[in-house]
Amino acid sequence: IQTPDLDPSLLKISKTTTPKTPLPPSKLVFGKTFTDHMLTINWNSANGWATPEIKPYAPLELDPSSTVFHYAFTLFEGMKAYRQEDGTVRLFRPDMNMARMNRSATRIALPTFDGEALTELIKKLVVLDSEWIPKEKGYSLYIRPTLIGTQNALGVGPSSDAMLFVICSPVGPYYASGFKPVQLLATTKFVRAAPGGTGGYKLGANYAPGVVPQAEAAKEGYSQNLWLLGDEHALTEVGTMNLFVAFKNPDGTVELVTPPLDDVVLPGVTRDSALQLARQHAKGELVVPGLPEKLVVSERKLIMADLVEAEKNGTLVEVFGTGTAAIVSAVDKIGYEGRDIQIPTGPEGLGNIAKGLLDRIIAIQTGEIEHPWSVIA
Ligand code: PLP
Ligand code: COI
Repeated sequence: IQTPDLDPSLLKISKTTTPKTPLPPSKLVFGKTFTDHMLTINWNSANGWATPEIKPYAPLELDPSSTVFHYAFTLFEGMKAYRQEDGTVRLFRPDMNMARMNRSATRIALPTFDGEALTELIKKLVVLDSEWIPKEKGYSLYIRPTLIGTQNALGVGPSSDAMLFVICSPVGPYYASGFKPVQLLATTKFVRAAPGGTGGYKLGANYAPGVVPQAEAAKEGYSQNLWLLGDEHALTEVGTMNLFVAFKNPDGTVELVTPPLDDVVLPGVTRDSALQLARQHAKGELVVPGLPEKLVVSERKLIMADLVEAEKNGTLVEVFGTGTAAIVSAVDKIGYEGRDIQIPTGPEGLGNIAKGLLDRIIAIQTGEIEHPWSVIA
């Protein structure tokens, strides 16, 4: 039986009567401040998606037996909205987040939904709270759509009830002053994701188990884990970002490599954007300033031995991570088997490729360069 899908035309809005004063942008810490409103939509298997509601930001009331608390029926997205001087609010590739959210939902038997409908509802929310989006360069609104299982039941099985909610947090540049390169510990004691597992989905269950490995890396002086897989120590991701490595070839070309998604890498929106821009540049369809003239772009398996060898030969050009929160983050050191692999970074703490991609992506996100990826709310 077909149950009702999400219907933005039913949206009910109740505005806060006690609006908060947004913090000055310089005081913002990532993900600690929330706007005045939230979006919530309930679902159950008999009646489908209920009326979407935008209401004052407030605690949720859930039964302690809710499936979310026991078996990690929870998944999320991370996306950003930008506000221009004239007040225009833009989302970046929301269709990608909606598609990924639906894939995550399918993976843990939570309900799927019409992604365009949720995008419409998110637009309503960010426009209502747009005063919260700082206009200053480098600032944006981090949007956190979340879907949880809310059935009151301790049996392990699909949740007959669910709730989708969206909260928003104004955020500043990830690094306060310039770009601070990060140090990675190539981690062999823990794995983030395995073939057939859930690493390719944005499930809450993938993140809590990464906290202890990160704390262990931090104790050794590294900021993030470089997640490896298998006996060959194949590189997969860095912390909660996708990974890119650039090598110099003997023929003068530069190869920009990112590991294939397979089943173990989260299909990042920033990863896809960086790949598309770099490929267009490589084909000569577009010039992205900062990217090498002769560029080859590959999605291929990378193993730690490739990095060790490239460091020895002086052919390691850049290593960086990509993700919505920081967009691009350079890596200057990788601890591996008792020593550090040193990686060049540019004068601003960001190599030319990382900087070139970062600048182009920001220009598109903020509407400085018109592009179909940037969607007006
Ligand atoms: N990899 C993991 C494990 C992540 O959690 C994220 C962040 O959301 C990313 C990569 C980057 O994805 P995106 O560029 O869509 O933010
Ligand atoms: C990212 O956007 O890069 C992230 O990894 C988000 C994180 C808070 C889960």
